[in-house]
Amino acid sequence: MIRLRLLAAGALVTALALVLLPLGQDVRADDKDKEESKFNLVYVPTPEKVVEKMLDMAKVTKKDIVFDLGCGNGIMLAIAAKTYGCKGVGVDLNPVRIKESNETIKKFGVQKLVEIRQGDALKVKDFNKASVVVLYMLPEFMNWLEPIAKKTLKPGTRIVSHDYKWDTKWEPDVTIEFKGPERTHTLYMWTVKK
Ligand SMILES: C[S@@+](CC[C@H](N)C(=O)[O-])C[C@H]1O[C@@H](n2cnc3c(N)ncnc32)[C@H](O)[C@@H]1O
Repeated sequence: MIRLRLLAAGALVTALALVLLPLGQDVRADDKDKEESKFNLVYVPTPEKVVEKMLDMAKVTKKDIVFDLGCGNGIMLAIAAKTYGCKGVGVDLNPVRIKESNETIKKFGVQKLVEIRQGDALKVKDFNKASVVVLYMLPEFMNWLEPIAKKTLKPGTRIVSHDYKWDTKWEPDVTIEFKGPERTHTLYMWTVKK
């Protein structure tokens, strides 16, 4: 009788575990979704003429490693690598953008120079390797990025941002109004100090 009860209890525990295990997995997936849903994945590409101006402002050379946080279709890094022969790392959360980036990089023939990664651009492990950072990200993202940039980037690293800047005391060293094909774009540049 006791043996029968023990067997029944064991079966119940197993059944509960089977029911709860997938639920537990879903909860973890939900947390990840929640974490990512705080980001606005709006996608607007920077016109090529504006990209060229941003890279010119940063005085990119062959020796640079350019990071594009929120790389969209990868156009900034494709132009940078093709024009200057520099290396590039692009990060985007949206898998559709990753696919497009890889296509752009291939179209420009710079696969050996540019690496595209899917993930959160605020959690880039080797961000300290950047010597140039290019951005076209909303003010909220810029404010999240500022303390990370301050803490992580090497002195001399240039950060060039299209249209948006962070809302802190770290003011850009250069601000220009640049006439693009359809409108005027505000471009900001900071150089990380010693
Ligand atoms: C306005 S688009 C800029 C694309 C590209 N840099 C350009 O200028 O052509 C912003 C991109 O950032 C991506 N994004 C937004 N938040 C992100 C995050 N936390 N991590 C990675 N990518 C993100 C979006 O998916 C989108 O592709």
